[in-house]
Amino acid sequence: MDDRCIEIKGGSRLCGKLTVHGAKNAVLPLLAASLLTDEEVTIDNCPYISDVDNMAKLLCELGAHVVREGRRISVSGHVTGVRTGARLYKTMRSSMFMLGALLCVLGEVEMPLPGGCDIGARPLDIHLDGLRRMGARTLCDGEILNCRASGLAGAKIVMRYPSVGATENLLMCASLANGETMLVNCAREPEIVALAEGLRAMGAKISGEGSSVICIEGVKKLHGADLHIGGDRIVAGTVLSATALCGGDVTVYGADVGDMKSIFQSFRSEHCSIEESPLGFRVRSDGQIKARSVITAPYPLFPTDMQPQFLACQCFADGVSRVRETVFENRFAHAKELSKMGANISVHANCATVLGGSLHGADVYATDLRAGAGLCVAAMRADGVSRVFNPHYIERGYEDFAELFSSLGADIKNTVG
Ligand code: EPZ
Repeated sequence: MDDRCIEIKGGSRLCGKLTVHGAKNAVLPLLAASLLTDEEVTIDNCPYISDVDNMAKLLCELGAHVVREGRRISVSGHVTGVRTGARLYKTMRSSMFMLGALLCVLGEVEMPLPGGCDIGARPLDIHLDGLRRMGARTLCDGEILNCRASGLAGAKIVMRYPSVGATENLLMCASLANGETMLVNCAREPEIVALAEGLRAMGAKISGEGSSVICIEGVKKLHGADLHIGGDRIVAGTVLSATALCGGDVTVYGADVGDMKSIFQSFRSEHCSIEESPLGFRVRSDGQIKARSVITAPYPLFPTDMQPQFLACQCFADGVSRVRETVFENRFAHAKELSKMGANISVHANCATVLGGSLHGADVYATDLRAGAGLCVAAMRADGVSRVFNPHYIERGYEDFAELFSSLGADIKNTVG
């Protein structure tokens, strides 16, 4: 039982400047893509977060040579999966991003099905449909997934839903397939663009990334490259939400403001100004929150990874707000925790309705990465002291969350419960 927690006393305004760390959801697929060549691939601006640490360990377990020097990770050598392919760890959801790369390199992958998590079942049908279209044979007994392919062939793949992970896996496979692949109705997230740019730097022939149709002309071999990832737009959005709620004046560098338009649109009001610049954005707020509603959806619409932070803010709004979650089927676990702080939230199916008011401090429990971030945002405004337990979830995607916000003036610290 992890008795660590993040202790927060609400009421401080946030002021200052910071640069967000590298994007978790860009670095993870790029680490997987580094397996597609034996030559050295270096990735700069990698964040110090547990998902990246675990991914690096997984690459080592698979036989790759991984060296971390500060924020630079280099991967070389080749994976040496056993005849039955590499057995990946169930606990690593991001091991999903290995599926495509390992199938390309080993011709066979056997992995425990990555379990569902607190935000949903996380099935793999879109991944597997696409791999089968490219000639892979897949076998799944409910526990273990086995994929085999003696060479993948390019194909036209129409995805029933623009799955980010499936787009990433199929992009990696198509890069080394025989012939042309077209991904239709694929994901458009900035992290897809980052992966495509990384693969292109490694010699892949890709066009259309960022749109709903990506074309890939398979090549025989990929080579090493020196890659750099941009700032994490969700970490930047989390800082934005906390400043909007607590009041203050914060400048955030490092994230591409072009990737944050739907987030800015959902927080901008007469009480919260956001000035954009090529280097980042400046948010100034008087701490008053307008009642408003959002619907989460695939990029470029409002991101599901900002939903808990948005819901936290609307608990203090001047009226009724509604949040419809269309990406994951079970992503309101934080609503119950916010209710412990006095939030007036009711959840029916995939919609949360919240009547704004004031919240008081309480002991609450993170149930996933962004739920934990949302609880901390609410606690930074609530009256009194809160303790957010299960900080290991938050550490998956934020470098020292407490340090980040205490540097802006929040009364927040890591403690043992
Ligand atoms: C990525 O997850 C991100 N994770 C998630 O961020 C993010 O919330 C999600 O994309 C949506 O933007 C990483 O990049 C490591 P999906 P992924 O496949 O790829 C269903 C965070 O907090 N689906 O786009 O798993 C699925 O169940 C994390 O940083 C199928 O039904 O997301 C979900 O309901 C959380 N079948 C929806 O699609 C499939 O084969 C979106 O999933 C695949 C997905």
